[in-house]
Amino acid sequence: MKLRALLVGLATVGLVAAAQAADPIVIKFSHVVANDTPKGHAAEFFAKRAAELTKGAVKVEVYPNSTLYKDKEEMEALQLGAVHMLAPSLAKFGPLGVKEFEVFDLPYLFDNYAELHKVTQGAVGKQLLAKLEPKGIRGLSYWDNGFKDFSANTPINVPEDLKGKKMRIQSSKVLEEQMRALGSLPQSMAFSEVYQALQTGVVDGTENPPSNLYTQKMHEVQKYLAVTDHGYLGYAVIVNKKFWDGLPADVRGQLEQAMKDATDVANKIAKEDNEKALAAVKASGKTQIKVLTDAEKLAWKKALVPVHKKMESRFGADILQAIYKETEFDPTKF
Ligand code: LMR
Repeated sequence: MKLRALLVGLATVGLVAAAQAADPIVIKFSHVVANDTPKGHAAEFFAKRAAELTKGAVKVEVYPNSTLYKDKEEMEALQLGAVHMLAPSLAKFGPLGVKEFEVFDLPYLFDNYAELHKVTQGAVGKQLLAKLEPKGIRGLSYWDNGFKDFSANTPINVPEDLKGKKMRIQSSKVLEEQMRALGSLPQSMAFSEVYQALQTGVVDGTENPPSNLYTQKMHEVQKYLAVTDHGYLGYAVIVNKKFWDGLPADVRGQLEQAMKDATDVANKIAKEDNEKALAAVKASGKTQIKVLTDAEKLAWKKALVPVHKKMESRFGADILQAIYKETEFDPTKF
């Protein structure tokens, strides 16, 4: 009888152990955009690749479209460990106390993705991610979205057209100054609230790459869009440092590889996703699209490049000069 009880007991322990071994490590990945965007696609790819490389030991649960947290809440949740992974835009780190990322918000700092990658994939990019560590956050990678365009309900042809308009921005002081340089009234608000704010007239216009505009249906409540490509929108993929450091080393290595692969995907598809979205906005017939000539673009640059100097103290002259050097940007040309 005793032997039987012992055998049953051992079998139970064995079953529990097997169940525990099979329980995957769950990584909650929260973000605020739609699945059909560069960030949405990259997050899904990461989840798939992580499952493959860890042979099911890790399950990444992706929560898109602010379903779990809105912009500001998600940063707090990450620090508390309620969520493990995020990819906030580089414009949203100021409230956390890491304002140097706002250098990426400077208008017309990058002409194209190739220039940008020299920075995000080089020494400056690394140096900036390291600034997250004292906040209990590890920066893993940079993911692209693309270049922002202005939209509003009144025609946008020249910089003066945005004078007096209430424009929604992300929570960045550099973006605030960018709007002021145009004579607009900047209003910072969470991404999840933008559609309604545009629809109800709380704000007149906004800025975003076409992929965000289209997938949030903002084109249905914005009559005009100017392809100004005036600033970059991209992301830092970040994790709760304690959680990340606590992972088994082999699993962490596999996840780092999955992140590297997802970054390649993100940065490859971003341009195409935005081109497709712009074409879809055009096809919808709801928003009139203004494509700028070189001379027209120069007028926007002249109005906006002075923001670089004005906001220098926000991120430091050293960082700005290092970026200028990488991208061969000459601010005296404007
Ligand atoms: C925005 O708030 O406009 C963007 O940062 C949203 C995003 O994550 O792309």
